[in-house]
Amino acid sequence: MPPLTGPASGTVRIDLSGKVALVTGGGYGMGRASARRFAACGAAVVVADIDRVTGEETVESIRSAGGTATFVEVDVGESDGVRDMVAATVAAYGGLDYAHNNAGIIEDQEPVTRFPEQLWDRIIRTNLTGTFLCLKYEIPAMLERGGGAIVNVASETTYKGNAGDVAYTASKHGVVGLTQVTGLRYARRGIRINVIAPGNIETGIVERARRYMSPEQVRYMETVMPIGRLGRPEEVAELVVWLCSDAASLINATRVAVDSGWHVS
Ligand SMILES: NC(=O)c1ccc[n+]([C@@H]2O[C@H](COP(=O)([O-])OP(=O)(O)OC[C@H]3O[C@@H](n4cnc5c(N)ncnc54)[C@H](O)[C@@H]3O)[C@@H](O)[C@H]2O)c1
Repeated sequence: MPPLTGPASGTVRIDLSGKVALVTGGGYGMGRASARRFAACGAAVVVADIDRVTGEETVESIRSAGGTATFVEVDVGESDGVRDMVAATVAAYGGLDYAHNNAGIIEDQEPVTRFPEQLWDRIIRTNLTGTFLCLKYEIPAMLERGGGAIVNVASETTYKGNAGDVAYTASKHGVVGLTQVTGLRYARRGIRINVIAPGNIETGIVERARRYMSPEQVRYMETVMPIGRLGRPEEVAELVVWLCSDAASLINATRVAVDSGWHVS
């Protein structure tokens, strides 16, 4: 793994020394990049993931670069686990300042008329209920601290529809709504809550999609964004950490695209 700072990350100086950040889905993809970026800016980081092996790899990469991090195993769709994840964060580092509710899955391949109901439940549970549960338990911890910032994760699919991704698209629209409701609710109590909408980013989701897509579909996925390439997780991490920082003090309840302009194309 590259060092914590480098050409694709660490270009903007943000000092989060003494702060505590929680990243769900921190074991891989964008979550890993954000966890590493938070740590590079001086925050203590809790890497939470359903996958212990990759989560601990993220922690190790942060520690070996001189940062501070701990792993917590969690299924974000499970209430007690999310409650315990936040409690473990507070126990480990004394509070919670920032949360990146990033864990998510995409497995849709069927049109709505054939869409398996169990799969619907699984995707909604992880992406939407998971974000709800994180907000539910993170916000009280942030209020204890006097404020904080949260970045949820939606998707390009919340800007323009496509004919697939049934449950995924529905779940991500829900995340945008949750972000608006909660962002408005807590603005005067010192907590900003925003949501990012990434385009196609080179992560586990894209790696897995390559396995079932035709070569033409892969090429389309990789080049469809205006910039003509996939995004890098580190490019998204820059936005996440900046949105949490005081530099973004007036940005709240807002969806921010990170897709080189795909959503307006
Ligand atoms: N990659 C893209 O092109 C893209 C585009 C738009 C939005 N997103 C969103 O970005 C977020 C991160 O995805 P990624 O692309 O980095 O994917 P990824 O598969 O590389 O990483 C997702 C991480 O979440 C973890 N995870 C999955 N289910 C979990 C659960 N129930 N509890 C805790 N952890 C769980 C996985 O173990 C993994 O480490 C997701 O919400 C995804 O929907 C991705």
